[in-house]
Amino acid sequence: MDKNFLNKNIIITGCLGELGRGISEDFLSMGAVVFGIDTEEAVKDKKEFIKEMNLKYNDKYHVSVCDITEVEAIREYCRELSENKIDIDVLVNNAGINMMANAVDVTEENWNDILDVNLKGTFFMSKEVVQLMNKDSGGSIINISSQHGVVGNYKRAPYCASKGGIVNLTKALCLEWAEYNIRVNSILPTFILTSKSEQWLMKPGIYRKYIQDIPMKRYCLVDDIVNAVRFFAGNGSSMITGQALAVDGGYLAK
Ligand SMILES: NC(=O)c1ccc[n+]([C@@H]2O[C@H](COP(=O)([O-])OP(=O)(O)OC[C@H]3O[C@@H](n4cnc5c(N)ncnc54)[C@H](O)[C@@H]3O)[C@@H](O)[C@H]2O)c1
Repeated sequence: MDKNFLNKNIIITGCLGELGRGISEDFLSMGAVVFGIDTEEAVKDKKEFIKEMNLKYNDKYHVSVCDITEVEAIREYCRELSENKIDIDVLVNNAGINMMANAVDVTEENWNDILDVNLKGTFFMSKEVVQLMNKDSGGSIINISSQHGVVGNYKRAPYCASKGGIVNLTKALCLEWAEYNIRVNSILPTFILTSKSEQWLMKPGIYRKYIQDIPMKRYCLVDDIVNAVRFFAGNGSSMITGQALAVDGGYLAK
């Protein structure tokens, strides 16, 4: 167990999604206190997981409903933490949504939905949570972008725009907050094999097409991203900020 995270306070958005659950359990297993955020629907749906984590890790998993597209909801959430004198050490902006559609079929509503969660949510979470970070001990903000934040792909225009926005937002925030020893980095996964995506990603036609673009010839696993999040959260990356780390088996190297 990495003792560096013992009793550290970590916020994870989208904590009940596939990746969010993996990141949550990793920090909990190292003794951290995890403040998870997700939608009302996800909290209802995953109440057994929340219970299991609290039983296993001494009630250190505090999951709240907070819609990160609502700036006032983010403020209210952070106000409560502040009133309880809780300093935050790490923020993982992980919540994200996508839809597959040709650009000509994307509606204004589709665009707003995706940009609001992926980009606006990431910015306003960072803006509010940075004020809960201790300016002496510093902090780490980790934004989950995508390989599609660097290259384009078909049927994903709003998603690509939002994830590209995250990569450059990361650089802008790293400049402003470096003087407080607060680092901001992004992670760019390739396709992650999850229980939700498996059926699609393993379809013979899709598998052949997607895998040929990944030199390592395999999809990303949740643990591959969890390892990168842990790296950016810990002291081992104390001189690294503003970076976009591709965890992509070489997809972006071509
Ligand atoms: N799965 C992949 O192949 C893949 C690849 C590259 C990047 N990513 C990125 O990784 C992150 C996690 O992806 P995942 O596969 O775990 O997705 P997921 O759908 O399993 O999880 C996303 C979580 O975000 C939550 N969420 C959505 N809108 C929210 C809102 N308004 N407020 C609060 N929470 C909200 C959802 O309820 C869900 O629990 C996303 O940012 C995604 O874009 C995923």
